[in-house]
Amino acid sequence: MKKIQIGSQTAHVGEGEEICRVLADEVEALLKARAAEGKMVVLGLATGSTPLPFYEELIRRHREEGLSFANVRSFNLDEYEGLGREHERSYWAEMWKNLFDHVDVKPENVSVPPSISEDADVASAEYEAAIAEAGGIDWQLLGIGGEGHIGFNEKGSPVESRTRRVTLARKTIVDAGPSFGGEENVPTHAITMGVGTILEARRVVLMARGASKREVVRRAMSGEVGPEVPASFLQNHGNVGWFLDHDAAEF
Ligand code: GLP
Repeated sequence: MKKIQIGSQTAHVGEGEEICRVLADEVEALLKARAAEGKMVVLGLATGSTPLPFYEELIRRHREEGLSFANVRSFNLDEYEGLGREHERSYWAEMWKNLFDHVDVKPENVSVPPSISEDADVASAEYEAAIAEAGGIDWQLLGIGGEGHIGFNEKGSPVESRTRRVTLARKTIVDAGPSFGGEENVPTHAITMGVGTILEARRVVLMARGASKREVVRRAMSGEVGPEVPASFLQNHGNVGWFLDHDAAEF
């Protein structure tokens, strides 16, 4: 994997498989080190298509090499409003299908923001409290949306934002349309960790794949830091890793 400088930031550029291996190495080292001390690891996890091969690599290591997730406490970034956990497009269902069902994580140690709640403000505050109670996030995985969102922190999300109910941007709904069998089926709202919540993670890793992310990655890494491209706030995180495949990195 090669390192390239983009503005003030360093990107790790390689083949998709190589990126997944390197990131799985990070997680494996963290899990093993903490397990040796009898301690938990708090992972912040993401959905979308980008992390899928990374989750496959974690599952492979669990199956073939015995990597254990018994000391994992996880918090997902976000969830669509109104679908319910059973809905196949809910992030809850996607996380179980793509990772949790295949490793030895304890079900009670897995959290995804609620898709249905009586009061989204209360549910958001409870989510924040649970993260704090777990000791904060050790290792946070992110993808990036077409307009530079992280989680569902759309354009305009302030740096100090916390977990909250948000309205999805038009572009986000259009991008999600095909997987919902049409834009009209995509929820209009979601609950997401805030930019501030994400920035408190001790390590943040952003993965981007494909030419469609090229321009937004460039803006996030070397453009002005601000709510116009929420991923740009990561420039000021002291321990962020930008992992790009060749298509996403060819500026
Ligand atoms: C959704 C998720 C984001 C994700 C983004 C990109 O909006 N809420 O967390 O990063 O999609 O998805 P993909 O990885 O499929 O491009």
